[in-house]
Amino acid sequence: MHSIDANGARIPCLGMGTWTLSGEACSDLVAHALSIGYRHVDTAGGYRNEAEVGAGIRASGVARDEVFVTTKIWHTHLQYDDFLRTAEASIERLGIGPVDLLLIHWPNPAVPLAETIAALNAARGNGLTRHIGVSNFPTGLLAQARALSAAPLVADQVEHHPMLDQTKVLAACRAAGMAMVSYCPLFRGGGLFETPAVADAARRHGKTPGQVVLRWQVQQPGVAAIPRTSRKERLAENLDIFDFALSEAEMAAISALQAANRRLCDFAFSPEWDEPA
Ligand SMILES: NC(=O)c1ccc[n+]([C@@H]2O[C@H](COP(=O)([O-])OP(=O)(O)OC[C@H]3O[C@@H](n4cnc5c(N)ncnc54)[C@H](OP(=O)(O)O)[C@@H]3O)[C@@H](O)[C@H]2O)c1
Repeated sequence: MHSIDANGARIPCLGMGTWTLSGEACSDLVAHALSIGYRHVDTAGGYRNEAEVGAGIRASGVARDEVFVTTKIWHTHLQYDDFLRTAEASIERLGIGPVDLLLIHWPNPAVPLAETIAALNAARGNGLTRHIGVSNFPTGLLAQARALSAAPLVADQVEHHPMLDQTKVLAACRAAGMAMVSYCPLFRGGGLFETPAVADAARRHGKTPGQVVLRWQVQQPGVAAIPRTSRKERLAENLDIFDFALSEAEMAAISALQAANRRLCDFAFSPEWDEPA
């Protein structure tokens, strides 16, 4: 599995998203994913499936230190003590020892960032996680978080797909030696697969549109992607993207779709996003 070296972390550039997965089906899918070669799993306290994700990892028989596991702390738990208690509960539910990466799921202006970053570092110091990072941090907040953090941040997990311009966040991550982890990497379908840029490349390479979009993601230095599927056959499809390469022209044609600048995850509590480049 190709991976990204990010400030001391080695992050497999294709991971498994688990949002909406639940129950036994979630555990089964996680175990199956690991059995076919996935080595990176993304969950969050807010997904309410950490126990099932952990059970799937344990059931897979894959050695714990071969799997990169991320979880996240929801934005209503960012005060120092609450953050640490919430992180401990996540680790307890997962039942696989420390996670590899602990993220602040969303920023929260009601809590001083210095307080949350101190808690994030304490979680690392206490052995709850090997590495720390953030999610949904635009460039200004990312710079503040980096300046406040004693330990290096290794990733900013953000929405990123061919319909959204994240040039600025990616440049900031690269300059900081961090990975940018793309969530909603497939734009949840959403008409992307039918665009000529994606559909034509799929035809040329004998790949599916989903594979082309994921290849576009991981072919960009410093980018990891965590697609989600509820179907076993698609787990294999989404992993099978390392035996072909998009040409420069194909990469550019898909990147040009980013002019649409369409964001799926935008809520009342979202921060002020970066303008398109
Ligand atoms: N940090 C954050 O705030 C945040 C926010 C959102 C998501 N995330 C993380 O990112 C992960 C992925 O994002 P997402 O789940 O929102 O969106 P996504 O991965 O872009 O899209 C998932 C959808 O695409 C379909 N799909 C998957 N593979 C496909 C393929 N090869 N061809 C066609 N359709 C395919 C799935 O349907 P089927 O199930 O039918 O295959 C599912 O409906 C989440 O699971 C979560 O772990 C993080």
